[in-house]
Amino acid sequence: MSAVNQNIHTHPFLIDNEWRESESGKTIEILSPDDKSVVGSVQAMSQAETDEAARASKAAQEGWAATPLDERAALMHRWADELEKMSDELGDIIQREVGKGFSSAKVEVIRTAELIRYTAEQGLRVKGEFMTGDGFPGGGKNKKAMIQKVPHGVVLAISPFNYPVNLSAAKIAPALVTGNTVLFKPATQGAISGIKMIEALMKAGLPEGVLNIVTGRGSVIGDFIVTHPEIDMISFTGGTKTGQHIATQASMIPVVLELGGKDPAIVLEDADLEKAASEIVSGAFSYSGQRCTAIKRVLVMDGVADQLVAKLKEKVEALKVGKASEGAGVVPMIDDKSADYVESLIEDAKDKGADVVTTGDRQKNLLHPTLLDNVTEEMRVAWEEQFGPVLPVIRISSVFEAIDLEKRNEFGLQASIFTRNMEDAFSIADKLEVGTVQLNGKTSRGPDHLPFLGVKNSGQGVQGIGRSIESMLRDKVTVINL
Ligand code: NAP
Ligand code: G3H
Repeated sequence: MSAVNQNIHTHPFLIDNEWRESESGKTIEILSPDDKSVVGSVQAMSQAETDEAARASKAAQEGWAATPLDERAALMHRWADELEKMSDELGDIIQREVGKGFSSAKVEVIRTAELIRYTAEQGLRVKGEFMTGDGFPGGGKNKKAMIQKVPHGVVLAISPFNYPVNLSAAKIAPALVTGNTVLFKPATQGAISGIKMIEALMKAGLPEGVLNIVTGRGSVIGDFIVTHPEIDMISFTGGTKTGQHIATQASMIPVVLELGGKDPAIVLEDADLEKAASEIVSGAFSYSGQRCTAIKRVLVMDGVADQLVAKLKEKVEALKVGKASEGAGVVPMIDDKSADYVESLIEDAKDKGADVVTTGDRQKNLLHPTLLDNVTEEMRVAWEEQFGPVLPVIRISSVFEAIDLEKRNEFGLQASIFTRNMEDAFSIADKLEVGTVQLNGKTSRGPDHLPFLGVKNSGQGVQGIGRSIESMLRDKVTVINL
């Protein structure tokens, strides 16, 4: 943390449509993962300012819920339009702030605009229910029940660094279209992109207080906002430890959590190995594996393991490694600490006998992609979420072993199965304890209207446009007794 530095651009927070600097005079400098240059700084808000932001969200909520749904949806459409107009500017900021290649960063912005439009349309189709009492013994036809879908109130949206625009909007848009107001806490590394995205919402005509932004380290302000009495629902995406902590702090309010993963790619003997290798390498190494849905281990049948590893090696060695600003696919990790962690997993596996198929030097937080073969259960990389550019290959002798390995791991986000036999594919898919199984394709979240969820330590509740909208609403029952 540093005192306000006039030489770099200091980004304000937002309360009641007023952009403000913190009275604490404290800011947090955001360094680019690419070269550690200063991208800008964000405000380290005081507790009093954070409190004010939460109260502003609450004060605006009744009026926003009373705003006709078609007007709320229209605001979402205008927001999407403004975002698209800013796609080059925002793409550039995302690139510098979280070290993602410009084309991927721009795709993130366009994808977000599309997500917001779809959310607006889906929001228009929310319906209530009507029931009569006679379906239950003694209930009687004279009881007529209207079940309306109503917003929770104030939604606290907490997002991670890796999709600073998309994963924020995936919470904000469904919250707003359903009549909730939002307290938005972006990841600190990612906050500048998040603030810029809200500038687009301001241009679109955001009413006062309907969305307020808090910035500051989650470790400092997190517990305060999570337990704030004006918060009625929490939608969080981030690491499992943080999510578990939030779940223990929040009491008596709905909490949706999208957390970490250890997605396996299960490769059977009859798989199209060329296709499997392409999907696995792009699934594991794009954005240096810093995606919750990255393929994080390969479970391959012994009979085809040599062939698959040879193909993986060839494709990994062809990956472009370098800075995000140079258009590389394997880019510097978000910070040195994350790179240290990934390196520790690689060293542990090497010490315990894993074969290093391909690797490269480390330059600060830039780790060259590493492929490890003959990884065993004793190695940490077989179980821990690397969130970085290393891929362990575990050789298996039966599909039961693959199912058993998947079941015994703490995560349950997604899994891929590569086989030409759909009967086998469905039979294995049915046994895996994950939110989504991909057959003959890499693990991934999109398209964004599909349900997206993790089980076990990968999450709680469901996202994806339709389900996110549902998660932002509750039933309100009014019974007419005739
Ligand atoms: P993180 O460290 O858990 O941070 C996520 C968000 O939580 C940030 O906004 C962070 O703020 C905030 N936070 C930290 N401590 C908090 C607290 N005590 N109370 C409230 N908020 C708190 O995760 P990350 O490093 O940004 O993202 C990487 C992780 O997220 C990986 O494990 C990945 O698998 C997971 N992820 C999951 C999904 C999914 O959909 N399943 C998607 C993307 C990422 P600060 O930045 O200020 O610390
Ligand atoms: O990092 C987690 C994201 O939800 C993954 O999204 O599969 O589109 O990369 P993605």
